[in-house]
Amino acid sequence: MKPLEGKGLPYGKGDPRAVLRRIEGPMQAVEAMLKDILSTDDPFLKPVLDHLARGGGKRLRPALFLLSVEACQGDPYEFVSVAAALECVHMASLVHDDVIDEADRRRGLPTVHRLWGTKAGVLAGDYLFARAFSILAREGGPRVVERMAQVISDLASGELQQQNSLYRLDQSEEEYFQRIHQKTASFLGECCRIAGIVTGQGEETQDALYRFGQRVGMGFQVIDDILDLVGDSQTLGKPAASDLAAGILTLPVIYGLQDAELGPRLREYLQDPPWGRARVEEARHLLLASDAIGYTYRRAREFTEEGREALASLPPGEARDTLEDLARILLLRSL
Ligand code: IPE
Ligand code: IPE
Ligand code: MG
Ligand code: MG
Repeated sequence: MKPLEGKGLPYGKGDPRAVLRRIEGPMQAVEAMLKDILSTDDPFLKPVLDHLARGGGKRLRPALFLLSVEACQGDPYEFVSVAAALECVHMASLVHDDVIDEADRRRGLPTVHRLWGTKAGVLAGDYLFARAFSILAREGGPRVVERMAQVISDLASGELQQQNSLYRLDQSEEEYFQRIHQKTASFLGECCRIAGIVTGQGEETQDALYRFGQRVGMGFQVIDDILDLVGDSQTLGKPAASDLAAGILTLPVIYGLQDAELGPRLREYLQDPPWGRARVEEARHLLLASDAIGYTYRRAREFTEEGREALASLPPGEARDTLEDLARILLLRSL
């Protein structure tokens, strides 16, 4: 088969680090704080937490939070622990997600449960949730705890909805959007809203920040789902179309199934689950040769633009511009 390229997509240039330079100092403080959170004398937890500390990650959630703090005229250095706690919640959710997905690799390393077993994965995730919430209660207060509790219940609902919709060819775009709201966008939205809460903004500003993060989060997850289909396995660190192989239908597939011409051809490959590698590859090729990826990319861009519009009610300035730049650059990412 010929090598594949997504049709006319401009990604590959997006590196969030370029726009994050203005919060480099506080982000370094976040790294130090995370190192502290991940250090322990417990002989059983220690290897697991050391492993997680080595894993890296884009640090998108603390970055969105700290930039939002700046956009509210707050001092990011004052809220480093809250930022680190947000990343810690994310790490916990990834460890649990990898247990649920039976994933082999995360952030370029073997997953916790592959190395130490499912029980260690569940318990290490719980430990990180608890550490994070103790910081959030102390440094953020009850409203912040309440918002993060909402994030975690959304994550759980999203994961459950995903399990219940595996291999289902009749799902709608609305169901998909609801799922990615719960899995991803709710979290990014609350990271931004919490910046409004801790800096003492009124409801209107808090809501605008939430809307920004939520819409950017929707775009972010839609791009993630495109990358799963078009990315090369080396960059992804997993075989292309892993979502489809696992029975998870994402927007390009849902769109393709509804298309009058493409739908029936796609359905031929996607009957009688589980679908083997060969059928997944055929379906992937069909999608890449169609306008499904272009359509999906346009949807991601629309979400992101809606997010940027929500920032209009915030005071103009460099921090707000950086949030806008970050939103745009996330559309161009390849990782
Ligand atoms: C991974 O999140 C899960 C999704 C919501 C797509 P990130 O893409 O932010 O993961 P890291 O933190 O960079 O590893
Ligand atoms: C990511 O979900 C984790 C959560 C949003 C809880 P996925 O399973 O879709 O993403 P990856 O591919 O593992 O990062
Ligand atoms: Mg996963
Ligand atoms: Mg998952």
